[in-house]
Amino acid sequence: MSKANDLIIRVAGEGGEGVVSTGDFIAAACARAGLEVYTFKTFPAEIKGGYCMYQIRVSSERVYNQGDTFDVFCAFNGEAYELNKHLLTPGTTIVYDYPGGDFEPDAIPEGVTAYPVPMSQAAKDLGSYRSKNMVAMGVLSVLFNINEETLRQVLTNKFKKKGDEVLDFNLKAFEKGKELGAGVKKVDTWRVADAVEPKDVIIISGNDAVGMGAVLGGLEFFSAYPITPATEIAKFVATHIPKFGGTLVQAEDEIASIGQVLGASYAGKKSMTSTSGPGLALMSEMLGMAFMGEIPALVVDVQRGGPSTGLPTKHEQSDLFLAIHGAHGDAPRVVLSVEDVKDCVDMTVDALNFAEQFQCPVILLSDGSLAFSTQTIPAPKPENYTLVNRKRWDGQGKYFRYAMTDDMISPMADPGTPGGEHIATGLEHNASGAPSWVPANHEAMQGKRFGKIAGLVDTYKPVEVDGEGEAEIGIITWGSTIGVVREAVERLRAEGIKAKGFYPKLMWPMPVAQYEAFAATCKKILVPEVNYQGQLSHFIRAETSIRPIPYTICGGLPFNPSMIVNKVKEVL
Ligand code: COA
Repeated sequence: MSKANDLIIRVAGEGGEGVVSTGDFIAAACARAGLEVYTFKTFPAEIKGGYCMYQIRVSSERVYNQGDTFDVFCAFNGEAYELNKHLLTPGTTIVYDYPGGDFEPDAIPEGVTAYPVPMSQAAKDLGSYRSKNMVAMGVLSVLFNINEETLRQVLTNKFKKKGDEVLDFNLKAFEKGKELGAGVKKVDTWRVADAVEPKDVIIISGNDAVGMGAVLGGLEFFSAYPITPATEIAKFVATHIPKFGGTLVQAEDEIASIGQVLGASYAGKKSMTSTSGPGLALMSEMLGMAFMGEIPALVVDVQRGGPSTGLPTKHEQSDLFLAIHGAHGDAPRVVLSVEDVKDCVDMTVDALNFAEQFQCPVILLSDGSLAFSTQTIPAPKPENYTLVNRKRWDGQGKYFRYAMTDDMISPMADPGTPGGEHIATGLEHNASGAPSWVPANHEAMQGKRFGKIAGLVDTYKPVEVDGEGEAEIGIITWGSTIGVVREAVERLRAEGIKAKGFYPKLMWPMPVAQYEAFAATCKKILVPEVNYQGQLSHFIRAETSIRPIPYTICGGLPFNPSMIVNKVKEVL
């Protein structure tokens, strides 16, 4: 616990035991009680089996990350206990499945509160071993002040879809868990903060938030091939886009999906796809064509552990090289990166707008940790978003698809527009679209395609600077690591260390002047990121005069604030 009323509950067990449902229900109940929620989950690539963990951080103040480790740990099985027992430090609490579970813990360390509860046995006695997780949820609700009525509601909403019998045995299990919880003599002081005045917020995952941003951004066509951890974006869009007259296609692979996106966009529709690293790699040739043909297209890349099939369900920030430079020839794109679930909504709208405005491919980077993280965010209001549509030809005079204009953006004509016939081709072309091998033409056209996006560094709020004046340490980071660094910076300041943060959201074109200005105020620059090579550090060294200190990890898990604080102290 680092803030007032800031509690971290970790539930862990085996994939298939319902850890995720338990975490989702608790998170939803806390959010409905008006509290701030930030969740993190990690699970194996298997459908059943393997270690599965769900961490819920709940506070009456805003929280920016999943926190260091838990205050309360609920162990469903022996593996979960073994993997977490080193984190049972004085002050923490463990609730575990005993007797009747598959393990007996070692001697409980001094200062740790332990509540053995026979969860498996209770579920078996009720005739439904499946409902062990709901027994656990009942226990946790009583011990840690989680609103029982809301838990019952979310449980009912979820399980009634599975039939009366499933609902019935789970409700019984929940009640049994409450009874067992009431029988425990509580000696710790951990509790979820009391409900506060409900705010106008929703609780939503990063992937669903991208889908929501797509719908709010006026998306008309979506084509994707399923891939972990991006699939839920397509699922969300599939549910909602038909209500707004849009179309979703599940393509046979990623090459087909980007091809369909470019075709639909050429035909005049706002179009996008979502994928993860392996899919983005397959799309790279078509993205070169989108750049050459000046066709608006959005690709959302939910990064996962790589390379190759890598760690499909795990967190990593390792597609920055691919996103920025993954193309043959000189073919830039606009690359944006989200920090949190709120950004997943807002910046998907921005990304669709930029694709339309600049008639080019835009890549929006999210990551595995954010994809499945549920967070409370202000309820998005359609009227708060400005939508941009592509510059269209007015039908006057002779049409030149790639006409040189002051802003280097040429009006597009939808197919079928009388007089607007043109070729969009991957071949180099002149203003009319006809192939051209003239040296001066290629140079001019490359200048046009690069030039039209260059000004974005001044017109978009590309970075956020956290802190003023001179600092001993400046921390530059990107993606969901920003939320971790925000808290680390707060903690460092509280200890009297002058620390500042620099959080870019526009990754390319790179806002070099802003980086330089920030670094000029800091004695040292640290760049934490979750990849092996230090990919952002690489771009900083290549594009600016800054010589950062990279801090990289790549174990499939995100940083936590303590790691950053400790590293800063080591560096200083
Ligand atoms: N009674 C009845 N059903 C229950 C239940 C209960 N008490 N508790 C959970 N369930 C159901 C859930 O509703 C869910 O069913 P649904 O899919 O129809 O919604 C299912 O059991 C799984 O439970 P859940 O709580 O969602 O997950 P879990 O904690 O058991 O973990 C996963 C399972 C999520 C780890 C696993 O299924 C998974 O998806 N793994 C990743 C697969 C992947 O993406 N691989 C990568 C391929 S490249």
